[in-house]
Amino acid sequence: MKSYSKLLPILSLVILFALQVSAAAEPAVFSFDKAQYTYYPSLIQWDKSDVPFTPPQTCGGCHPRQYNEWKGSVHNMALIDPIYQGELNKAGKAVGHTITRQCEGCHSPAGMVTGEIKGAGLKGLSEMALAGVSCDICHSISAVTHLQTPTHEPENGSMFLSPGKDGKPVKRAPYKPSENCGGGFHQCEQTSFKLKSEICASCHNVYHFDAHFPIEATQNEWKAGAYAQADILCQDCHMVDTKTFLEVADTFRKPKREEYRHYFNGANYLLSYLGAEAAKISGDSRLAKNLMAQYDMAIERLKSSADLEVTPVYRNGALAEIKVRTRNIRAGHNLPTSLTNIRQMWLEVVARDENGKVVLSTGQVKGDGTLPDDVRIFNSDGMGSDFHFSVHPWVITSFSRHDTIPPKGHKDVYYGVNPGIGTKSISVEVKLRYRQADQKIAEALLAAVPKDIDLKAVYGLENVPTLPVVDMVVSNSIFKTAN
Ligand code: HEC
Ligand code: HEC
Ligand code: HEC
Ligand code: HEC
Ligand code: HEC
Repeated sequence: MKSYSKLLPILSLVILFALQVSAAAEPAVFSFDKAQYTYYPSLIQWDKSDVPFTPPQTCGGCHPRQYNEWKGSVHNMALIDPIYQGELNKAGKAVGHTITRQCEGCHSPAGMVTGEIKGAGLKGLSEMALAGVSCDICHSISAVTHLQTPTHEPENGSMFLSPGKDGKPVKRAPYKPSENCGGGFHQCEQTSFKLKSEICASCHNVYHFDAHFPIEATQNEWKAGAYAQADILCQDCHMVDTKTFLEVADTFRKPKREEYRHYFNGANYLLSYLGAEAAKISGDSRLAKNLMAQYDMAIERLKSSADLEVTPVYRNGALAEIKVRTRNIRAGHNLPTSLTNIRQMWLEVVARDENGKVVLSTGQVKGDGTLPDDVRIFNSDGMGSDFHFSVHPWVITSFSRHDTIPPKGHKDVYYGVNPGIGTKSISVEVKLRYRQADQKIAEALLAAVPKDIDLKAVYGLENVPTLPVVDMVVSNSIFKTAN
């Protein structure tokens, strides 16, 4: 009895301490049931049964068209992508594998839930893990768990994967199954949400693993925009060819069932290009052609997504400013979207007098591949909890600047001009330019690629070449210096 009473104060101290620790571990803003999410911070859930995941090659045997389309897509490259592998390697070193399960849950869900992927690198991984976002991820999604997430929004893979039941694969699609559906290999189940953007949503909203800050918020942007209101979904622009996409974006018409394609084509022409180089080196010219077709498609999409309107502004009869209005005319979300703190979309402006003398110049890429400080760029700057700038998703808990253009919206920029005396008119060239990343960031990420990926042997990369820039829109005009 005596010894108990001695222990009591110590015991209560221990309890108090434990309570404090658990209070500290609980995120301040969001409380939720962590026990529900076995793979936290990935919010993916796996209904493990005796039915394993099926690699895409097997599905391709009976669905060759979908297989070939998907094979040329960046979803196929989501795990092997060297830029991803470089950043994942950095993440692993900074925060450890328990936290990087968040990344893996979106870039290779099957590889993560089965425990096969243990960090950066590709050595020894199965075909299923290497296939990234493959057939048996999307077609095994049996439910989405948005309402139970910390933010009550889709984020960090908030979905259920159920590849099958009672020893038989079950594949889900938005259509009523035909009689021979599955060809004896799988059963078919009709789902309603597959035609909604929910199937894309949980991976296309990336939140900070602990603070649940939306770093990439394509789904949120779409939901708040004009297309969502008109029931135009991610699939309606990204799972169709360019011609259909243009019609959908302009007229808000829904694609017909036979128009859907498994391209998942967006803006990442750089990744398609790298994939094509790797395919050429490995001797697969068919795949290289397939990837280059996606490369062309991504550039077409970028070029058709924006519009520039350049107008002169006169004060007291003299040309004082040039107004540049940049419009997002066909992207279903903000422009640019997703990794807005990495992607670069900026204005380059050059104005000349009649003699060709430059009277205004801004936004030119510098000799070392970086952009000048005064550039007008549409993107965001990430900030950590120490209020310092960062590009890393495990650090960013807010943005210190966020300047992207909403769907069907615009942003205006004014440039002061002072043409010399005697100048009657000036010619103005404005370009809206895009690239995947700043030159230095690309170099840093590729330098961090894990040792088992030989960039020279696989991609033919000896050093990082100057990143290609796409001119999304080019506008030329001539303005009188007096009105
Ligand atoms: C919720 C799902 C999700 C999570 C979690 C996630 N990503 Fe991603 N990641 C994406 C999507 C979607 C894209 C494509 C965005 C785009 O192309 O604009 C992407 C793109 C990237 C890219 C750019 C690839 C390229 O070729 O330009 C890198 C690098 C990357 N992710 C690294 C990471 C790392 C490291 C983590 C973990 C700290 C992580 N991601 C967590 C979904 C996710
Ligand atoms: C990122 C998610 C995603 C991935 C990956 C994916 N699909 Fe699909 N799939 C969809 C969606 C959404 C639909 C509905 C739109 C449509 O009809 O194409 C669909 C439809 C289908 C259909 C039904 C087509 C019809 O009209 O009856 C088949 C068959 C199919 N997919 C097979 C595959 C195969 C095989 C793969 C892998 C090579 C694959 N899918 C990869 C999302 C995906
Ligand atoms: C042995 C052949 C075979 C294999 C292997 C196969 N399927 Fe199918 N699948 C079929 C047939 C046949 C249909 C019905 C086709 C139709 O209705 O046009 C079908 C239909 C589908 C549908 C549409 C379901 C619906 O309700 O309309 C999806 C989605 C699908 N398969 C996905 C997959 C995925 C993912 C894999 C790999 C995990 C796969 N299939 C492997 C034969 C196969
Ligand atoms: C399991 C997670 C997951 C799901 C589900 C998913 N995606 Fe993705 N998606 C990714 C990742 C990861 C990437 C980036 C791959 C990379 O760049 O390394 C990506 C890339 C893309 C891109 C290319 C982006 C670019 O920069 O070119 C498009 C477009 C896209 N997804 C559309 C969709 C659509 C449409 C759906 C729904 C039908 C969907 N995704 C469902 C994870 C997912
Ligand atoms: C009205 C057509 C339209 C709809 C709807 C749409 N997109 Fe896009 N998306 C585009 C266009 C055009 C681009 C290329 C310009 C850009 O980068 O934003 C693009 C680019 C992207 C990119 C690549 C961004 C980058 O710069 O790396 C991703 C990822 C993406 N979309 C995902 C989605 C997802 C997820 C949805 C649904 C929540 C969706 N899109 C809805 C038209 C659309």
